[in-house]
Amino acid sequence: MKQFRLNLIPGDGIGVDVIHEGKRVLDKVAQVSGMSFQYSELPWSCEYYLKHGKMMPDDGMEILRDCDAILLGAVGFPGVPDHISLRQLLLHIRVQFDEYVNMRPVKMLTGLHSPLKNEKMDFVCIRENSEGEYCGKGEWHNEDKPDESVMQQSIFTRKGTERILRYAFEYARKNGKDNVLSATKSNALNYSMVFWDKIFEEVRKDYPEITSSKMHVDALAGYFIMHPDRLQVVVASNLFGDILTDLGSAMLGSIGISPSGNINPEGTYPSMFEPIHGSAPDIAGKGIANPMGTFWAISMMLEHLGCKDEANLIMNAMETVLKEGKYLTQDIGGKATTTEMTDAIIAAI
Ligand code: NAI
Ligand code: MG
Repeated sequence: MKQFRLNLIPGDGIGVDVIHEGKRVLDKVAQVSGMSFQYSELPWSCEYYLKHGKMMPDDGMEILRDCDAILLGAVGFPGVPDHISLRQLLLHIRVQFDEYVNMRPVKMLTGLHSPLKNEKMDFVCIRENSEGEYCGKGEWHNEDKPDESVMQQSIFTRKGTERILRYAFEYARKNGKDNVLSATKSNALNYSMVFWDKIFEEVRKDYPEITSSKMHVDALAGYFIMHPDRLQVVVASNLFGDILTDLGSAMLGSIGISPSGNINPEGTYPSMFEPIHGSAPDIAGKGIANPMGTFWAISMMLEHLGCKDEANLIMNAMETVLKEGKYLTQDIGGKATTTEMTDAIIAAI
């Protein structure tokens, strides 16, 4: 019997709801496929911060490491500054566990309706997840004085840049994709993105069978809207990938749909899976969050753990419910609650 130990971090706001429902889906998958999951639920959140002055205990990373994979809801809530909650928990885990690949599929599932005329899209964004614009370095000068200023730094290392670009090409090669598009902005970012482009030129030479090109990220945002059907693999820095993938999820009909896999490809540390959306304080506690981003993330997690059939069970069940159209949450045009949509998906599994 396949057995997996999962660490769950529901976090804040709707993160709590979607992880609760995600567990029910996992239990159903376990029941029909004969696998088993052992959960450890960690209360690390803004509420935890308000009690303890930190987002996780000092030995948090050791606790977290002891599992096959991590499933996270979302973190962030009014009362704790977003840069504290995000940096001390989510970004900390991504960096400490060297989850340098952030894999984000943008795939039109049957039954979804895009706000775009062109509904043909099936591509993946591969986002650098460990450095770049989110390295957290900078300086604050003359705080609250008339000449106050800040400096926010980006760090792009050869190692970090090369490995993500190479990962994108390897992914394309392994998955029969013949096109890799790199998001740049080297006209304005005269160090970081000039460097990124330079490494891209080096790496692409090793993949002559794959068509590759670069596009400035502003133009690329427009290209997402105009020609989503032409995209196959998009590779981007931490910030650019973050922005482009919220756009990608909106193109599928809602930010509540898309998943994200924070992957440590070497398997030295556990990988972490989550929906791309945040804690949505505006709808928290209303029971109306779309749980599909989490279910899709669970599907990615199962695939990562070598359980492709079980991963497909979830995707097929979601498509069944989407096609039927009876139990959709508000964000995608229905009236169902989070729990009603989950019940329907569980029944379909
Ligand atoms: P958000 O993704 O939480 O919400 C943006 C909009 O989308 C809101 O109107 C929300 O109601 C809606 N939305 C999000 N998820 C939804 C779902 N599953 N179903 C239906 N509607 C959904 O982004 P926002 O407002 O920028 O951030 C809110 C908080 O979340 C902040 O504290 C932020 O730092 C945090 N955040 C955390 C992330 C994470 O933990 N991975 C990612 C992004 C933001
Ligand atoms: Mg984001």
